[in-house]
Amino acid sequence: MVLSYFHGRTPVDIQEIHNKYGPVVRTAPNELSYINPIQWREIYGFKAQDQSEFSKDPAYHSGLHKHPIILNAEKSYHGYIRRLLAHGFSEKSLRDQEPVLKGFVDTLIRRLHEECGNGEKSVDIMAWYNFLLFDFIGYLSRYTAFGESFNCLTTGTLHTWVGIFFSLARALSYNQMSARLPSLLRPLFLIQFIPKNIKRDVLTVKALNEEKVGHRLKNHPAVPDFMDKLVEAFNSGKMSSEQLEGNASLLIAAGSETTATLLSGLTWLLLKHPRVHEKLKNEIRTRFSHPDEITISSANECKYLLGCIEEALRVYPPSPQPHHRIIPAGGAVVNGEFLPAGTSVSIPIYAISNSPLNWAQPEAFIPERWTGEDARFSGDKRESSQPFSYGPRNCLGRNLAYAEMRLVMARLIWHFDIENATDGNWMDQRVYMVWEKGPLHVKLRPVVRT
Ligand code: HEM
Repeated sequence: MVLSYFHGRTPVDIQEIHNKYGPVVRTAPNELSYINPIQWREIYGFKAQDQSEFSKDPAYHSGLHKHPIILNAEKSYHGYIRRLLAHGFSEKSLRDQEPVLKGFVDTLIRRLHEECGNGEKSVDIMAWYNFLLFDFIGYLSRYTAFGESFNCLTTGTLHTWVGIFFSLARALSYNQMSARLPSLLRPLFLIQFIPKNIKRDVLTVKALNEEKVGHRLKNHPAVPDFMDKLVEAFNSGKMSSEQLEGNASLLIAAGSETTATLLSGLTWLLLKHPRVHEKLKNEIRTRFSHPDEITISSANECKYLLGCIEEALRVYPPSPQPHHRIIPAGGAVVNGEFLPAGTSVSIPIYAISNSPLNWAQPEAFIPERWTGEDARFSGDKRESSQPFSYGPRNCLGRNLAYAEMRLVMARLIWHFDIENATDGNWMDQRVYMVWEKGPLHVKLRPVVRT
């Protein structure tokens, strides 16, 4: 497993061992991996009053702040932070955020028109998705300064903070590997293998975070934002400055890179599947006669678009690794078997959604399996694909992410014909916490309408 992590191959390696040994595999002396959909509820689901939650495995989050943040806090503190953040993710907040998101998407489309050379010049569309999503989340969390974004779209470059995000993901991944080694070897492993530039980047991010959070504490925005309640908790002594910083950085990272990954993956899959691409173009371009008609709710009525997004999330989930949980004191039953306390159990998000045990033709990209148009896929266990995880600790930004994905993809398809300009297989990627992606070069030809 350490080697698999080291080579960035965990999602695929775990998929292969499940293909070989079946739906339950012992992946390490104290660790079980499951790919039956029922285990989503058993491992990650809400528990009855008299049952304990399966807490997060500390080894999996060993590189995170020692001061717990939403991702690694124990049950009651997690519930507290989640409630503080929940209002920023409500239906009402999403409605309030829509005009801001639309403004950023308008800027994206305008900038792409400027950059694409009328379809003659190639652009790295993945970078532009990242610019958009970092700008938007930077604005929503007012992490930068009052009412500002990271300005990635206008400058066409990633802000320092976001530019080194991938170093942080690598550092976390190396910590995950070291947690699997005997304790004496861990510090040696980290010294030997965490490259110097990653250590430097981690320090740079820490200094930047301190500066930005300090700035946010001194400047109170007139409009409530994601950070509002966190700042209140800090001011009333219920959250340390490290936790405030850690939660803020998590929101930026979780709220941008994941959605940008999915949009890039979907773009690539469309380029590789012309039939699907044509059908999607047809749906978007016949349904909307003007880009202003494309809203979060009207895009939500485009059934084929929704099918394409679900299928991309299945084939290429942005968070593909297993999220390990620990069997609580007293033990628990999983898959009909009693497991002793302390056992690490997980569902590998990539393997479960790409297994022939759950899907017909799992390797094929076929959105019709979600729209119900093709009877060949009626036996698919759709509930096995849970790219946002499941239960009380599932993704808080799920609705926001869907809104972003639908709006951006519908607008892009409405405005441009997209052609591939990337050599090789873009999806041949390694995973260090997140997929390590190369540039995704495409040519964008503005659609001419009479
Ligand atoms: C396609 C896009 C996205 C995917 C696939 C995704 C996936 C996930 C997954 C798998 C988790 C669980 C992590 C774990 O258990 O360790 C998670 C948690 C989280 N995500 Fe997302 N995410 C996406 C977009 C977003 C967005 C847009 C936001 C908004 C800021 C966001 C905020 C969060 C937060 C705050 C958590 C922690 C929730 C908790 O621990 O209670 N995510 N996400």
